[in-house]
Amino acid sequence: MNHFEPIDGILHAEEVSLIDLAETVGTPVYVYSTATLERHYRVLAEAVAANGKALGDVLIAFAVKANSNVSVLATLARLGCGADTVSEGEIRRALKAGIPASRIVFSGVGKTDGELAYALDVGVRQINVESPSELDRLIVVAERSAACPDIAIRVNPKVGAGGHAKITTGGEGDKFGIPVDEALALYARAASSHHVRPVGLACHIGSQITDLAPLEAAFVLLRQMTMTLREQGLEVSRLDLGGGLGVPYQGGAMTAAPADYVAMAARVLDGLDVDAVFEPGRLLAANAGILLSRVIQITERAADADGSGRRFLVLDAAMNDLIRPAMYDAFHEVVPVTPRSGEAVSYDIVGPVCETGDTFARDRTMPPVQPGDLVAFTGAGAYGAVMSSEYNTRPLVPEVLVRNADWAVVRPRPSYEDILDREATAGWLVKA
Ligand code: LLP
Repeated sequence: MNHFEPIDGILHAEEVSLIDLAETVGTPVYVYSTATLERHYRVLAEAVAANGKALGDVLIAFAVKANSNVSVLATLARLGCGADTVSEGEIRRALKAGIPASRIVFSGVGKTDGELAYALDVGVRQINVESPSELDRLIVVAERSAACPDIAIRVNPKVGAGGHAKITTGGEGDKFGIPVDEALALYARAASSHHVRPVGLACHIGSQITDLAPLEAAFVLLRQMTMTLREQGLEVSRLDLGGGLGVPYQGGAMTAAPADYVAMAARVLDGLDVDAVFEPGRLLAANAGILLSRVIQITERAADADGSGRRFLVLDAAMNDLIRPAMYDAFHEVVPVTPRSGEAVSYDIVGPVCETGDTFARDRTMPPVQPGDLVAFTGAGAYGAVMSSEYNTRPLVPEVLVRNADWAVVRPRPSYEDILDREATAGWLVKA
């Protein structure tokens, strides 16, 4: 469910007309709904509460990579949400948004020594160690910082899942996590160090997962590993279950509902006496955001000898603003802000960037639009603005956060001067 609905025939974000917003801020622009973010967090938190003590003292740590806007993070922080981070930059954003370090998890396959030292310095809740060599480096850094961080060992459960090969992370051959036997040995080795304190295991098997079976297989494995480690006299008090639950990009109900997902986790971990961590990204943010764009023109290409004609809907948004269709063949619905009457039309929806890959959809049937009309890409709140760039020197797409009838530009569109001022001309190129 989300809060982008028509009021008097005009698509609104909560109580804000997208027509008014586009006129004031310009397009393209990302628009987020506070009510949707809050609702998604609450649905998950309520599912956790409904399962009593089976999951222990649960931390919901939003995967900052999905949407790292500081106001979005602050909205979730107010509800008690923590953060799953993968870089010093993300930790800094989470802290700036008011998420206490005690609710920040630091994951990632390639944390530098500098980033590890920073995480120790601010005192994050836990560092998820993803390889033996990372553990070696962390021990050295921790000794230098006179710290003894809580760590979890990230396991590669050999169950990959997800909406696209590029976002599957738990399969054999993926770069993430440590194979089971090696992870068990590494846990014991970490326990013998005075500079780190192993507290648990972590896994994350992929993203846009719409079937609970692979997630359950991974959680069962974590349970078995917990028992094995305990038999060796080692303490295991936390299990980080990762993120990955998919969302409906084409409307309709969720194929795997958050309540069923949490109930499944509770069933698997019941009686184990561990505190669970969930790291949802897409689940909280995807349907809390849209990308608002304006139609520049419609280019009709007459049929040639060997093919049919095409009708290109050229938007002012492009792959640099929303790369998911180009990168993962992802589907985003494109809906007119003010639908016109008339028969549905088939368009190739494209942006102005000079690449054929700058295509959002081929042969998409939708209500007819005219140049100047506004359209919204739905489900764009996760992995949208965070993956944007200034390719083709198109100014970084701005972001707006709506709350009831209020809205705020929470990342402004840079001016061309801003863009050019960020660069320096090498001294030898400047005329004396
Ligand atoms: N935890 C870890 C360790 C992760 O690597 C990820 C996502 C998450 C949590 C959150 O997963 P989620 O709940 O959002 O599925 N850019 C891609 C998605 C990449 C996901 C990477 N890892 C996309 O646009 O589909």
